[in-house]
Amino acid sequence: MKVVKDLDEADRLMKEEKLEKAVKKYDSILVNNALSPRAHYGKGLTLDKLGFKLQNNDFLEQAISFLGRVLDIPDAPAALVKLAGQKTAERQQFRGWSGKAIRTLKTLTEKFPDDIGLLNDLGMNFMMVNQNDRAKEVFTKVLSKNPLSGFAKAHLGFIAKINDDLETAVKMLDEGIKSNEEGTQDGRFFLQLGDSLLRLDREPEARKVYKEAEIKGLFLSANQRSLYNVKQLTGRPWWTLEQTGYQHFLKMLEDNWETIRDEGLNQLNSQTGSFIPEEENLRETGDWKQLTLYSQGRKKEENCKKTPKTCALIDQMPDAKGCRRGQVKFSVMSPGIHVWPHTGPSNCRLRTHLGLVVPEGPSIRVVDEIRTWTEGKVFVFDDSFEHEVWHKGTELRLVLIVDFWHPELTQAQKRRLSPI
Ligand code: LMR
Ligand code: MN
Repeated sequence: MKVVKDLDEADRLMKEEKLEKAVKKYDSILVNNALSPRAHYGKGLTLDKLGFKLQNNDFLEQAISFLGRVLDIPDAPAALVKLAGQKTAERQQFRGWSGKAIRTLKTLTEKFPDDIGLLNDLGMNFMMVNQNDRAKEVFTKVLSKNPLSGFAKAHLGFIAKINDDLETAVKMLDEGIKSNEEGTQDGRFFLQLGDSLLRLDREPEARKVYKEAEIKGLFLSANQRSLYNVKQLTGRPWWTLEQTGYQHFLKMLEDNWETIRDEGLNQLNSQTGSFIPEEENLRETGDWKQLTLYSQGRKKEENCKKTPKTCALIDQMPDAKGCRRGQVKFSVMSPGIHVWPHTGPSNCRLRTHLGLVVPEGPSIRVVDEIRTWTEGKVFVFDDSFEHEVWHKGTELRLVLIVDFWHPELTQAQKRRLSPI
């Protein structure tokens, strides 16, 4: 009985945030009860809180180790094993130990084979490390145990979309979303459902899905479908140079366009392989290659060595070179291309295009206005709005893309926003 009282006392200390005292109390219990599951669990939770408070990974790692040990203690109560295991996996994931998190969840699903919540956690963990085939197996198992699981359906639909199985994606995403289950009202599912419908030539249904996501507050609007947003930034598809406040820099790009073009063309012709094919599955047809000079606010030194004058110009543009939610890149598109309607990830940037080689034939639509490029001229749009590109001509088109921080972001926001 003494142990139970001591454990209650230690738990109370933890709840009152007297963390150092709580650790001491758990330690004193463990001296004579080395296999107490509750003391391990309590000490693990307390160490986790300490780690959070002190921003200290040593405590976090100790917490993970104590929580994890509960799973190995013989005769530990099942409910506690499950709680400790879920917490262990969650903290392992947080620590960046995806493989360990997956192993913990696998152990748990073996101990509790009928627990759908654990299987769903395991499936999500597989998706986080892009092991979509494994995730698919797990979510399929969930559906075999509970054919109505909207959570599993939404995730299976998402995976089907990645695998370009559009019919399955539509069916599963639609059923998943309609289930209204926790975890299914996620912008990513609406985005992929709408995109699948568009690609299947079912545009009116796609528009409905986007509108629904707008009403639910998952998108800024049906046309502005970025998911990493700062609220209250002015959003409009096309910007005049004056509206951006960057006209001084943009003019500088225009004044130097031939230098930039020559460096871009040189790389294109040199066959050094620095242009890389677009790999986000955005194209219906045609070739699209990019040579990235800056990404997430970091200069790609290797590539800048090949186009030094262009990079020297960008280095004079702090809100472009430091734009951690954007890129600077040459973009070349072949005739015959069609890029599906799509949106960028964030409303925190504006996208400049400088026309470098512009034959007859290419055009870009942003929401409901179609424009084309002019050699030596820039235009600016907000790529968090839906845009689509075609090239119906016969020669390739080359532009320089320069992303800038949205001009309404404060310096503090620009410093703090996570890179994308
Ligand atoms: C895009 O940003 O999606 C395209 O407009 C890029 C390009 O080269 O036109
Ligand atoms: Mn785009």
